[in-house]
Amino acid sequence: MQTIEDKIQELKRERGAIIIAHNYQPDEVQAIADFTGDSLELSRKAAELDEEVIVFCGVHFMAETAAILSPEKTILLPDQFAGCPMADMITAEQLRKKKAEHPGAVVICYVNSSAAVKAECDLCCTSSNAMAIARSVPVDKEIIFVPDTHLGHYIQKVLGREMIIWDGYCPTHSRIRDVDIVREKKDHPNAVVMAHPECPLVIRDLADYLLSTGQMCTHAAASDETEFIIATEMGLLYRLRNENPEKKFYAVSERALCPNMKKIDLEKVLWALEDMQHRIVVPEPTCSLARKSIEAMLELS
Ligand code: 13P
Ligand code: SF4
Repeated sequence: MQTIEDKIQELKRERGAIIIAHNYQPDEVQAIADFTGDSLELSRKAAELDEEVIVFCGVHFMAETAAILSPEKTILLPDQFAGCPMADMITAEQLRKKKAEHPGAVVICYVNSSAAVKAECDLCCTSSNAMAIARSVPVDKEIIFVPDTHLGHYIQKVLGREMIIWDGYCPTHSRIRDVDIVREKKDHPNAVVMAHPECPLVIRDLADYLLSTGQMCTHAAASDETEFIIATEMGLLYRLRNENPEKKFYAVSERALCPNMKKIDLEKVLWALEDMQHRIVVPEPTCSLARKSIEAMLELS
């Protein structure tokens, strides 16, 4: 009998489609994906793919970024309600108001934002290139950074440069507590802590490394360290464990789950291919304006 995985592969070939997945996707979705990565890797991949149909297993802003970079392609998000609460914490209208209060400021938006917000920005960034993007702004310019307060404050501290920072945050990373790290360190005294810069300050202060999900994969594979406490969404453990079977990875907390990332499952991937749903299209002029900030980021990183 044909399994759901077989049906997906068959239909994928028929449709001339490719499946790409974020590192936080459920294990079974990562297992059938052609490519898995962090936000920057997925944006790059989406821009260079030859396939006409991309099934994007991630959250809405990620599929939107792919649609902005490749408007001629069919970008399908298997669950149309897979959003990012942090991205919803700022609207284009709110950003326009903030810009009016600081004329001349350079606006950097974290990729976890809507296309309408990106269209209001000068530069986009992800957690893996945020520092380089902020560094590229001339020192005599003010910077408005939206929407993640934690990533913003992390950049501000490392660069020693004051920024105007929005107060958005990721509810999933905010669920990680300092006691979780302390407990895991006590249980695994030889392990190092890799945390995502979306974590609150108390967690960032306890981490040995602050890295994007893609950087965590690269670091785990390259380093001599053999035990890691992972302070980010638990989906990343699938890749880390598969790629480094001889090393040990401990989830910092079972609460570090992103309910939106987990909305996608194999059935929805199959339905996406069967019914060519849910197509993500970004209307003009938002699409072209947002593309400028994303392309500026890709050029700088
Ligand atoms: P990465 O770019 O590190 O994969 O992060 C995306 C994200 O949404 C983190 O919550
Ligand atoms: Fe958004 Fe947080 Fe989920 Fe990432 S983990 S998609 S920032 S809610």
